[in-house]
Amino acid sequence: MAFSLIQLVGENLFTQRVRDDQRIAETLSEQIGDPLVALDIDALLALARGVADENGARVLVLDPYGVVQADTRSELSGTRLSNREVERVLSGSAESDYGFYDAGGSGGFWVRSALSLYENVRSMNGLYAQAISRGGERVGALVYITPVQEIYENLRSIQLQILSWMFVVLAMVLIVSMYIMRAVTRPIGDLSEGIRKMSGGELSARVEVRGHNEFSDLAQAFNSMSERIEALDQARSQFVSSASHELKTPLSTMKILIQTLLYQDPIDPGMAKEFLNDANQEIDRLSRIVSDLLTLVNIDSGGMKLNIENIRLRALLDEQIKRLLPLARENGIEIELEARDEVSVPGDSLKLQQVIYNVIDNAIKYTDRGGVVRVQLSRSGKRAIVRIADTGQGIPEKDLPYIFDRFYRVDKARSRATGGTGLGLSIVQQIVQLHGGKIQADSTLGEGTTFTIDLPIQP
Ligand SMILES: Nc1ncnc2c1ncn2[C@@H]1O[C@H](COP(=O)(O)OP(=O)(O)O)[C@@H](O)[C@H]1O
Ligand SMILES: [Mg+2]
Repeated sequence: MAFSLIQLVGENLFTQRVRDDQRIAETLSEQIGDPLVALDIDALLALARGVADENGARVLVLDPYGVVQADTRSELSGTRLSNREVERVLSGSAESDYGFYDAGGSGGFWVRSALSLYENVRSMNGLYAQAISRGGERVGALVYITPVQEIYENLRSIQLQILSWMFVVLAMVLIVSMYIMRAVTRPIGDLSEGIRKMSGGELSARVEVRGHNEFSDLAQAFNSMSERIEALDQARSQFVSSASHELKTPLSTMKILIQTLLYQDPIDPGMAKEFLNDANQEIDRLSRIVSDLLTLVNIDSGGMKLNIENIRLRALLDEQIKRLLPLARENGIEIELEARDEVSVPGDSLKLQQVIYNVIDNAIKYTDRGGVVRVQLSRSGKRAIVRIADTGQGIPEKDLPYIFDRFYRVDKARSRATGGTGLGLSIVQQIVQLHGGKIQADSTLGEGTTFTIDLPIQP
């Protein structure tokens, strides 16, 4: 842009000048025709001097052979000029012609100069050759020479200014783009540093969120992702540690039983039987825990597939209550079913059985003798509601939010005594959620607990 601008300005200035020179030279060549034909050199010179002085120019008048008849500086009189412009005009191939000559150059005035702005020219002149004709015949030529050094120098200084501005702008563009680059690369650098740390196992890695743009959104997304991963990781280690602990307890019990038997000599058959019976119970407990753990792991890994069919809930509830009746009787607890109409839901029969069994089983186990477990089935809009209420001991308010957590038990001793693993409700919740449903617990300490299971009737 800078270069074309200089070119444009230059062309404009010079074109203007050439036009002015042409006008002057044409007028003068008209006036000079007669004195030239008459070889009235004095009159010729007077005319030429008048114009030359007025414009700060030099005028030469040439005869048809190129010999200088008059020179306003009287230096070249009598010599023959043979530069390009003069030759073209005298030979008749042009009416007028224009060229530039550097009078300060090493080759002297008559070395034609290209109008280059990149050379240091000391005295640039414009030379305008104009034919002088009389009656259709070429009687000579007029050479009009004006200094254009000033225009030339102005152009050079404009060029210099434009070039220096160009460098300033270039430097500014560089600085600004470096700044922008930094602004762009810094958050990306932070982010990749964060990712590197995360993949190196440093799950607490977070990146700084600066400003409000796509990068800060990205940083925020990264942070919430790493928070989740960290939480999951913690939950996982917590789970592994609780699971190991749960498995260790029956193992330790068995170890003691077996050791006691081993050091008995001779072994008392009655006691041995009793100990073996205890060990057998511990093994049952172990396998319950392991199978619950396997169920949970299966759900966690997304491996649990629901075998969806139409489930008639009243029938299902009835069946599970029947299964648990012996246990209820043993604990002196009554079970009531209130279900006026049958309600069907899409679901996995075995899994839903497991859900109902677990919740009623809890209700029986955590209710004291003489209590009642009331099972209700109803329909509310597009949802089936199963309510299992007991008149048991209830759950303290502070424990209520955690009862669906893995291994969470309000009363460890009681849970263990009744063969609980602390995994029942978390399996129940997972299955209900897999069915698109919800489970909720409400409890009043000392009065009882109500579990509400809410399942969608349409898939
Ligand atoms: N109906 C209920 N009444 C009182 N407490 C209950 C009831 N159901 C569950 N809980 C409490 O929630 C805990 C978790 O239940 P669950 O996951 O089934 O484990 P558990 O193997 O101990 O039965 C139980 O240990 C118990 O403290
Ligand atoms: Mg249970």
